[in-house]
Amino acid sequence: LEKEKEKIYEINKEAARFYYYNLMKNKKALMYLKNRNINKRVLNQFGLGYAQDSWNSIYEYLKSKGYKDLDIEKTELVGKKKDNTGYYDKFRNRIMFPIIDIRDRVIGFGGRVLDNSMPKYLNSKDTLVFTKGNNLYGLNLVKKLSNREKIILVEGYMDVISLFNHGINYAVASLGTAFTRNQGRLIKRYGKEVYICYDSDNAGINATIKALNILMEEGIDPKVIVLPSGQDPDDFINKNGIEEFEKLMDKALNFIEYQIYVNKLKFNLVNPEEKIIFTKEISKALKKLKSPIEKDVYIDKISLATGISKEAIKSEVFGKNYKSN
Ligand code: GTP
Ligand code: MN
Ligand code: MN
Ligand code: MN
Ligand code: MN
Repeated sequence: LEKEKEKIYEINKEAARFYYYNLMKNKKALMYLKNRNINKRVLNQFGLGYAQDSWNSIYEYLKSKGYKDLDIEKTELVGKKKDNTGYYDKFRNRIMFPIIDIRDRVIGFGGRVLDNSMPKYLNSKDTLVFTKGNNLYGLNLVKKLSNREKIILVEGYMDVISLFNHGINYAVASLGTAFTRNQGRLIKRYGKEVYICYDSDNAGINATIKALNILMEEGIDPKVIVLPSGQDPDDFINKNGIEEFEKLMDKALNFIEYQIYVNKLKFNLVNPEEKIIFTKEISKALKKLKSPIEKDVYIDKISLATGISKEAIKSEVFGKNYKSN
């Protein structure tokens, strides 16, 4: 099995080289990255590449390097043709993002189309060396470059790259899957202060709440960077610059503040019924806080925001056993 894995790492690395070489020769792909403001240094750091608009170029290249079909197949870069007459390239006409682990091995790839066609991104299927939920995109560079004071969790490849492009060398992405406990443990190892900055849309909000819960279970006190509606970190930085992003970082919300923010978006506090649901939702979140002092501070805040008495919120949060004074 170890031998098998080594072979996959080796072929993946060879494939990454090929994709990089193709990118350097392809004006259209280089122009795409240029239009997305990615500089040469960062392009090289991330080892970006381009998969040609061809059904067999990576397959033929790897064959020419002497690799056997069965080994090439294990990388998931190629698929078997339906009629069993050979293999086809899965990644065609895409910008390629090698996914590199903390031991500098190429474990998989993401590929993006250069236009609006679908699917926008394709990721390697899990292989013997690649389990999506156990890895974070960008962590190899964070391990090398960051001082591990801070770490930012984002959604996409381009968000990580955009942040590095602007000097923030402590961003990672969760590879398009739901954030996992294993990823939570990795985050904890590589940054003291943990920020989440997912896309500011419904999917991003729901994913943020899940990630918050997982990170807190790991004993982390994460913060959320809130972007204007509809934007992701890459959009925001291109529009407003990195200084504005850093200002948002300074204003990042903790768990309860974020719950209040999200529920304020959902409920209209002028409506009594919605106000009740709002307060119940926040009370649920407050139950998760360990410190009674923290609970108390936020109970004050919520009481102020809703006009509901502190006593009522306290019994909601502390349960039936709660006795005032
Ligand atoms: P850009 O348009 O390049 O800025 O992409 P994005 O990173 O903003 O994409 P988006 O927010 O839509 O998605 C975030 C991440 O989810 C991507 O980086 C991918 O990892 C993943 N993803 C997005 N779209 C797809 C898709 O169509 N298929 C798969 N498998 N993953 C996707
Ligand atoms: Mn998104
Ligand atoms: Mn996005
Ligand atoms: Mn984006
Ligand atoms: Mn810029």
